[in-house]
Amino acid sequence: MPNFTLATTDDGSLSLHETSLNELYHNKAGAFTEAVTNYVQPTMQFLAIARDKNTSLNVLDSCFGLGYNSLALANEFASSAQFKLQVDAVELDDEVIAMVPQVLAQPCFAALPKQSLEQLNFNISVCDLRSFLLARDKDSKPYDVIFHDPFSPKKVPELWSVDLFQHYFDAMADNSVLLTYACAPAVRGALISLGFKVFRTTGLGRKNGGTIAVKTSSVSLAQDLLDAGTCIFAIEGEELRRLGKSSQVPFRDPNLCDDSATIIARREAEQQEFRRQSGLTK
Ligand SMILES: C[S@@+](CC[C@H](N)C(=O)[O-])C[C@H]1O[C@@H](n2cnc3c(N)ncnc32)[C@H](O)[C@@H]1O
Repeated sequence: MPNFTLATTDDGSLSLHETSLNELYHNKAGAFTEAVTNYVQPTMQFLAIARDKNTSLNVLDSCFGLGYNSLALANEFASSAQFKLQVDAVELDDEVIAMVPQVLAQPCFAALPKQSLEQLNFNISVCDLRSFLLARDKDSKPYDVIFHDPFSPKKVPELWSVDLFQHYFDAMADNSVLLTYACAPAVRGALISLGFKVFRTTGLGRKNGGTIAVKTSSVSLAQDLLDAGTCIFAIEGEELRRLGKSSQVPFRDPNLCDDSATIIARREAEQQEFRRQSGLTK
């Protein structure tokens, strides 16, 4: 029996409700709208500044699910044909992948009529994300864009560790981006500690903006992205303050094999130590 039930989000697009974690697959405001707001628009802004058009773009879509994020990117390129897309998609549950034709049949994907994932240049790996990263050949073509979309850090910390992000960093090209809906200080703190330049993306529904993390050796790219100013913003105010507190202590999973309870307990111990050393109460 599948571990999900069907749901409809506020923009009319199809989603799923995960039964055991009791979590919606997408932002309630809209599965398609979320893909566009949190993933496609910031990627397009980044590409406009950082990349030459008419080149190929190697994308990793982690926790592919119904495929909204990279399908919405393909949908965008279908009308503008700016880049040749190659997508590696990683998803644990093949029953979810089986629903992708239903997703593609919706009006929001009208630019991709009757195309299969294969025809779209999507290569699907049905496996655990951590196993995929551990097994990945270090000489493979680096990624230009990574979409990271697991369930929330509180529910599956094993998919949000600094060690998993290190694998991403090592697998990414210079001038590349990682996008996620998450804004947790544990996630942003981990990305900053690895050398990513980290920014906020646009908020959606009642949620804060997500995160865009840029890997670049350029000294000016980060400022150029902020100056372009439509959907990539500096982290400021309370969000910035929390990055100086124990909430920024990352999840650690050194060999990408620990269970969530071990990872949470390790972080709590490190947070206590952080507070002790810095004389903070939080
Ligand atoms: C929030 S949903 C992703 C939504 C998706 N990006 C979409 O557009 O529909 C999280 C997905 O992660 C998958 N997943 C859960 N654990 C995983 C793991 N260890 N490795 C890979 N995928 C996993 C779930 O089956 C689910 O499809």
